[in-house]
Amino acid sequence: MTIASAPSKVNLILRVGAADSSGYHGLATVFQALSLREYVEASMVGAAGSSLDRIGTPSVRTYIYEQTRGSHPRLSAQRTESFAELDSAEHLAVRAAAALGAGGNVHLDVHKTIPVAGGMAGGSADAAAALVAVNDLLGGRRNLAELQEIGRSLGADVPACLVGGLALGLGRGDQMEVLRGGTTHPNEDSSWWVLVLSKRGLSTPSVFNRFDKMSQQSAGAPAISAMDLLDLRRAGASQSVAGLLVNELAPAAIDLRPDLQVVGESLRRHGTQAWLVSGSGPTVAGLASSQEEALRIAAAVEAEDLPEVREVAVAWGPTQGATIESRLPSWTV
Ligand code: C5P
Repeated sequence: MTIASAPSKVNLILRVGAADSSGYHGLATVFQALSLREYVEASMVGAAGSSLDRIGTPSVRTYIYEQTRGSHPRLSAQRTESFAELDSAEHLAVRAAAALGAGGNVHLDVHKTIPVAGGMAGGSADAAAALVAVNDLLGGRRNLAELQEIGRSLGADVPACLVGGLALGLGRGDQMEVLRGGTTHPNEDSSWWVLVLSKRGLSTPSVFNRFDKMSQQSAGAPAISAMDLLDLRRAGASQSVAGLLVNELAPAAIDLRPDLQVVGESLRRHGTQAWLVSGSGPTVAGLASSQEEALRIAAAVEAEDLPEVREVAVAWGPTQGATIESRLPSWTV
């Protein structure tokens, strides 16, 4: 049995170009890995009497946790599916196990703290953690570069969840270069975020479609200036990151969901240095000057009781990428 975890992400910079023949858009993006993580426990399954970890059929059990500010996540839903009855295309952790050749003989427990369909790469983090856990279970045959290659075939954000830290993503956002490594614990160089999670998800393809309809120019390859990259590599305190934030998908996301603008304005009113839609949304992320500020602002936004807001969480980054864990966190069931 092996346990691995992988981070969520926020795109500090997201520049979008034209779609290629496959429908994917060229991206130039900078990911910051955030402290909300997914945990995947992988075990080998076999028949009674075998020496494998557990008896039964290959299946996945998914636990979904709610964020609670200042204390531990709380279980809100749970379901078990056998691999046979699953639409594996829908479950990236299952696809990850299958891509490593272990689809027929592993059981996965997936503990989710990242909002589903929230623009924070929850599904991709499941895949990244499953790749690392199952690879270890199979004897660690693949190196990180090989896992990246497999991850890329599963989803555009999987490589970012694998590497973590602060990373530049080109191509579909999946060709990675790490700008700064992530830390296991927050320090004075960490950014603190207030994450406003929505009651409803927002589909990534629909946001890209709306982007295509709204954009006038036939955009070339998107780019990030060398100066901005230099600033980001150096950026320690949140202060210096605030001026660089940009998300070219935001107008499309806000066009589909005007309530995201209302959330952003609430964050600004309560004192965030800057706010942005996370990836394709609908999570809205506000940058705070410290942990204390983030907690204060989160409480203030939550107290407004905005109709589309499910919960308000606090997270920090950049944190480490997908990694083996010795145990599950104490709050998991
Ligand atoms: O790769 P992933 O499954 O995360 O992408 C979901 C959808 O988002 C794609 O099917 C595509 O419609 C859109 N997308 C895109 N360009 C990208 C990444 C995603 O158009 N670079």
